[in-house]
Amino acid sequence: MKHSVHFLPDDITINVTSGENLLSAAANAGIYIHAFCGGEGICGKCKVQLEQGDVKSDSVASLKSTEYKAGFRLACRSQVVSDITVRIPDMVKADGKSLKRKPITTRSISPRSLDEIVGKWNANPPVRKLFLKLTPPTLEDNVSDMQRLIRDISATMPDSPEPTYDHPELIQYLATDLREKNWEITVLLLHNQEDVEKNHIISVESGDTTDHLYGLAIDIGTTTLSGVLIDLNTGNIIAEASSYNSQIGQGEDVISRMIYAARPGGLRALQEKVISTINSIIEEVCKKVIISPSDICHIMAAGNTVMTHLLLGFNPKFIREAPYVPTVNQFPLTKASSIGILAHPCVRLFLYPCIASYVGGDIVSGVHACLMHKNEEITLFIDIGTNGEIVIGNKDWMICAACSAGPAFEGGGIRHGMRASSGAIENFHIHPETLDPMIVTIGHTKPKGICGSGLISIVSELLEASVIDQQGKFYRHLNHPRVRTGNDGWEYVLAWKNESAIGEDIVVNEVDLDNMIRAKGAMYAGYQTLLESVGMSFSDLDRIILAGNFGAYIDLERAISIGLLPDLERDRFFYLGNASMLGCRISLTDQQRFHERIQVRQLMTNLELSENPEFMNHYMAALFLPHTDMNLFPSVQLKKKS
Ligand code: FES
Repeated sequence: MKHSVHFLPDDITINVTSGENLLSAAANAGIYIHAFCGGEGICGKCKVQLEQGDVKSDSVASLKSTEYKAGFRLACRSQVVSDITVRIPDMVKADGKSLKRKPITTRSISPRSLDEIVGKWNANPPVRKLFLKLTPPTLEDNVSDMQRLIRDISATMPDSPEPTYDHPELIQYLATDLREKNWEITVLLLHNQEDVEKNHIISVESGDTTDHLYGLAIDIGTTTLSGVLIDLNTGNIIAEASSYNSQIGQGEDVISRMIYAARPGGLRALQEKVISTINSIIEEVCKKVIISPSDICHIMAAGNTVMTHLLLGFNPKFIREAPYVPTVNQFPLTKASSIGILAHPCVRLFLYPCIASYVGGDIVSGVHACLMHKNEEITLFIDIGTNGEIVIGNKDWMICAACSAGPAFEGGGIRHGMRASSGAIENFHIHPETLDPMIVTIGHTKPKGICGSGLISIVSELLEASVIDQQGKFYRHLNHPRVRTGNDGWEYVLAWKNESAIGEDIVVNEVDLDNMIRAKGAMYAGYQTLLESVGMSFSDLDRIILAGNFGAYIDLERAISIGLLPDLERDRFFYLGNASMLGCRISLTDQQRFHERIQVRQLMTNLELSENPEFMNHYMAALFLPHTDMNLFPSVQLKKKS
């Protein structure tokens, strides 16, 4: 349910989902409210006055009764539960004059129906179950049990090729199962149109189990693994779980994991860790719907090239050494249980193929999900993570690259950087005159650090308020307690020690800004180099699709204003979320789409950027906010002039 929130005196109205936090709503609308404690409710600065409607608030104790009666509430402790009009109190200077609020432009990527990007998919999975009542053998009809089974399957599915089988686990208990269950069994078949297998018998279960057809989609991230359990009879998600990748103890990024894998026993240890994380997810989703892991009939997974190598126990050593070669891009079909995954012994693990050492199956899965391989429109697909992978193309061709953007957008290399979890500053505004901050944290708790979307907001706002220049350096003439020199040079204090959850001031400094500028510069240089390699420019792009969890919170205007995203019409931007997981879900549910994943891989060509001189030239030019060539950012230029 949606409610309107009308902010005065700015006269800005936005629609929010019922229950939305009022401070977050204001931040998303570009409305500045004093907010120093991240939304914990302790600084008492974020008072607003309700003029119409009501909010659900737990801020009563923090307000005087006269204030409460007059309609004042702490924005950070209020949830929007009806249409409201709310006034942000005027701030007053020492001389009693009102401080002008400057309208701030901010815009999330408008949520659009996923159908527009990924199309529809059907509950017609690559696996199916068939309940059969076999005729028991007689002296006249004493073919083997397996022949009898195949004969009945063929009779029930006359238009399908004769089923095949290839593994002893299937046959081991067949004779007893058939007889104990009075020849009533359910057979699990895989319809694989690819050459290797066609109508393959995966397993035989006693009795009628056709109601229980479950599939698992897994996104194998370097940091987090997510699993989605799907009822393949309906296509509905029935349980979800996620967990930190337990390899994190052996390194936060793929490079340190590869270094660890080179140690004696390191590869095996990393394989065991990722499998134990997958198993914990399987146990959790199965527990939620009270099924056994052996009830899972089909598994579809995607991960980057290094993670997939580690999962299968393949040596990733040469991925990190020039000329950056993976052992394999197209992974062999594996029985999940053979590598220790909790699953029925016969169930297959399908992995999205990779393209190159740093363009993995997670990207192929995302591109597959958004139907680039079927679309005329020229699309720029961007996944902003540690590497920053990009793909440009359409149904006829695709070119892709990894940009080595570095981990700044995941909090890496940033003094108070952190992942997007509770306490991370995710949104920030600065008052253009007082330079006071408005801090909104994930979970509305005291701030602990800065996540990627917070960093983009901070840099964009500091730039707009002329606290930093276009090279990310603080203006030295500012005489303000929050702008000071610290251990790492000049910095801005986002939260004082007493307002932070870490017992120290939370700052953003020039080293952080430099790392962020390098990361966004690598992304932008990547877009330019790929486009030029196919004789195109930004104006040829019909749509830009952002993937990855990071994209959910990205503020489009701010990301453009710092040069992370190209300055194009805003309605060309789409946000897809965890595209890797989405691709796995679609493949798991719809056999037609499942088979098309091969086509996607065949269309994609990798361009190595690491030693590409064009990339280096573009990169150097992009180490500026937003760019040394302002003609590439006309809307930002226009805003500066106005
Ligand atoms: S009391 Fe609301 S932000 Fe501090």
